[in-house]
Amino acid sequence: MPLSLAQMRRNYTLDGLQEEGAPDDPWRLFGQWLQQARDTEQAPVEANSMLLATVDREGRPHCRVLLLKGYSEAGLTFFGHYQSAKGQELAANPHAAMTFFWPALERQVRVEGQVSRLDPDLSDGYFDSRSRASQLGAWASPQSHPLANRAQLDGWLAQTTRRFDGQPVPRPEQWGGYCLQPQRMEFWQGRADRLHDRLDYRLHEGVWARNRLAP
Ligand SMILES: Cc1cc2nc3c(=O)[nH]c(=O)nc-3n(C[C@H](O)[C@H](O)[C@H](O)COP(=O)(O)O)c2cc1C
Repeated sequence: MPLSLAQMRRNYTLDGLQEEGAPDDPWRLFGQWLQQARDTEQAPVEANSMLLATVDREGRPHCRVLLLKGYSEAGLTFFGHYQSAKGQELAANPHAAMTFFWPALERQVRVEGQVSRLDPDLSDGYFDSRSRASQLGAWASPQSHPLANRAQLDGWLAQTTRRFDGQPVPRPEQWGGYCLQPQRMEFWQGRADRLHDRLDYRLHEGVWARNRLAP
């Protein structure tokens, strides 16, 4: 029996998003929403998880879940391997999109812009704050590359663990942070009967302009 999806739907009635209540600066709204998501979302949803979409050399999109590790007016930061699929895609085409989904708040935020590598000092600082096990994992796992089997990865981890025995684990050169500098930030609040609120902020010559979009 195929799963019936056509009748699966929720009505969204928790909140609204009006121009009068929304800050002119999308960073303020992003900060408010992220904090509310952190306070409201229940495990297993992580309020700082998001989808990152990148595009490869052939123009094909690829999308995966990542964790946001910081934000400021400079941009939104995340970490991974520079030689991973996403790393290679970003090297070929820096345009990327992020989507946050906060189901307990019936909210979505979409962010679009260009991505650059974080300053190595900032990547070092974040790497140093990670657990030793995660640090060793970053060395042992050539992210996105094919593995013969699980034992191969376990073997590389054992080798890496021996290599750094009794010493601090430095950041691998091929692992680090990225910063997405938004040109667009769209805030979506679910409303009843699919007539949702959408406020779309776009950056023009350093100034954010805001428009309401039809749902
Ligand atoms: C909840 C969650 C959080 C994740 N966080 C990260 C992350 O912060 N960095 C990362 O490189 N991969 C993270 N991943 C794994 C990615 O989704 C993905 O498998 C990995 O980055 C390789 O993607 P790529 O082959 O497209 O480069 C996370 C996955 C999940 C489900």
